[in-house]
Amino acid sequence: MGSLKGKDILHGNQFSKRDIDTIIKNASYFEKELKKKKALNLLEGKILATLFFEPSTRTRLSFEAAMQRLGGGVISLGSVESSSVAKGETLTDTVRTASQYADVIVIRHPRTGSAREAAEAVSTPIINAGDGTGQHPTQALLDIYTIYKELGSLKNLVVSIIGDLKNGRTVHALVELLSLYQTQFYFVSPGALRMPEEITSNLTQRGIKIEETEDMLKATNASHLIYMTRIQKERFTDLSEYERVKGSYIIDEAFLKKLKKKITILHPLPRVDEISTEVDDYPGAAYFRQMRNGVFVRMALLAMVLEGIP
Ligand code: NCD
Repeated sequence: MGSLKGKDILHGNQFSKRDIDTIIKNASYFEKELKKKKALNLLEGKILATLFFEPSTRTRLSFEAAMQRLGGGVISLGSVESSSVAKGETLTDTVRTASQYADVIVIRHPRTGSAREAAEAVSTPIINAGDGTGQHPTQALLDIYTIYKELGSLKNLVVSIIGDLKNGRTVHALVELLSLYQTQFYFVSPGALRMPEEITSNLTQRGIKIEETEDMLKATNASHLIYMTRIQKERFTDLSEYERVKGSYIIDEAFLKKLKKKITILHPLPRVDEISTEVDDYPGAAYFRQMRNGVFVRMALLAMVLEGIP
């Protein structure tokens, strides 16, 4: 892909290993700089617009924090109810508007493909912060940064991805990135929430080893890393189906006792009940460090998109 300057960030598959190396290097640079001082001025005068049509805590706050730590400004669409979206304005018109006021737009929307539609409508760089059950590439990049920091390498890992693999956009993006490093995957989910066939067949065609199973303990005991996810209640049309599958997989102290060795645990958050709070003090529980890393990775991405830093 080369320089990110002026580019959109839409999908996990747009990144090469070289791009990922650069992002890790830049994120780690900003992490160190922030230890020395609270704010940099690299993006002074630049404006980020955040358009969130779905709930968010970490993604939005960390993007806004990242922009402000780099000296830039942030404008945002408050809530859907308080904007002209409530009057029936289309996504494209809202994005066109934001592009008149901002230098980069971060968008989250319930429709799969919405970020790409937005990118086609304007020349301002669009960053996909989650399009329905599609993709969430910046989350995947911060996951990769976290894995690199926690495990020291990205190569030849065995990874158990657990939970709602059908609807989870974070894992759809993450497998794209991890598959560049000869990762072996266990996909652990209830039958109804399996990884979409187009993703598994693409991985298999590329020679990536995957095993789909419902057995969390077996998968976990063979893995270096657990990536836990929330059952995405908001994607269910039939709530009785949600009730049937919720709580299928839970990591608690009793489960940790059954593990043969220490394991690293990631989760994009928010969690509901799939990781008990008693696990939070376990040394391998990395999900709070993971959320903090979001700021450094998003600083790197904003600086690369807006300033073209190498
Ligand atoms: C995720 C999302 O919105 O896709 N959250 C996040 O961005 N960290 C995961 C989720 O909602 O379960």
